[in-house]
Amino acid sequence: MRNDRELLKNVEEIKTGRVKRGLEGLVGGLRALVISVEKENLRDAVYEMSDMTSYFVSEHYKNNEGEYYILKLKDSADIIIKASFESENKYLLYNDNPKSSKLINTRVEQFIFDVSDIEKYYEIQRSYGLNFDGAIENKGNYKILSSKIDESLGVSYAFVEFEGALRYSSKDDIDMEIDIPISNRTYLKNVIKLDHTASRVKAKDRDKAILKFMDYTEYNFEFSIYVRNLNSITNVARLKKGEFAMVFTSGIEEYKEGESGPTEKFIHNYGTRVHHMAFQTENIDTFFESLKKDGVEFLVDLVGSEEEGLKQTFTIQSPYTMIVNEYIHRYGDFSGFFTKSNVEMLTRSTEKQ
Ligand SMILES: [Fe+2]
Repeated sequence: MRNDRELLKNVEEIKTGRVKRGLEGLVGGLRALVISVEKENLRDAVYEMSDMTSYFVSEHYKNNEGEYYILKLKDSADIIIKASFESENKYLLYNDNPKSSKLINTRVEQFIFDVSDIEKYYEIQRSYGLNFDGAIENKGNYKILSSKIDESLGVSYAFVEFEGALRYSSKDDIDMEIDIPISNRTYLKNVIKLDHTASRVKAKDRDKAILKFMDYTEYNFEFSIYVRNLNSITNVARLKKGEFAMVFTSGIEEYKEGESGPTEKFIHNYGTRVHHMAFQTENIDTFFESLKKDGVEFLVDLVGSEEEGLKQTFTIQSPYTMIVNEYIHRYGDFSGFFTKSNVEMLTRSTEKQ
């Protein structure tokens, strides 16, 4: 029966390797993630994000490559929603699946992490053999470096060092008016932080995806939860407790028509991709009721309880980003990250997608 023995051995090797090559202390937490959408959905996608969370638009700009909205929330990673003008999309092949090809440019494309010395980071990682998409780009108030796409996830990782204000638009960009209305849902203030994202990854690529991510960053694989009856493993990588976590959910066995559980079925229909973004939410019971009253639909009711230490729910997919929103609340002294019963109920609910 499949277990984590091989993975754990490789995880230890990567940890040792990172220390040896002098990476320790260079890479920080998630600064931003980049969601690409179709041109015609850009404004709707941005409004929806600000109408389903407490994120607000802080910048709107364009350049030769595309149009961008920056959404911010204090002490949380930024969300960049963009539409490309370019006809060539290097993520296209990851988007071309039975249920996702209608939104052929839509996916979470990139995770951007802080680095404290980008030149040193680049030098160390390039000598080690990691692949980057060009060299460090100097944008004026920040420098940025992108990895090649990780084929097991269809995402790239980028590394940024800000030198001045935390603004994304640079001298080559054209600033535009912020034309997105502000949501009037006052209960959205209960959304306090991006907690984690969860990607769906093929059974055969699980270890590869986790190990590659660890190689580029200073995240550590922490634990996995096997839901054998749904052919699904939820794997968690973290930097520090309380910071953004990277979750990878995979099958245990590969996809088989009519037999696979919801995780492998999702990948068959939508490709490997970020399935949901999870937001830490206060007063989650009333928050959930308020959203329902406003017509928001969910894949599942609130699962878990205060006694178990955790409550969570999933909305249905966004029609503009294909992303599910998770709202999550951890109670008091809950020391775990997930509970097995919640993981099982949430995984089961994705069968509906
Ligand atoms: Fe989650």
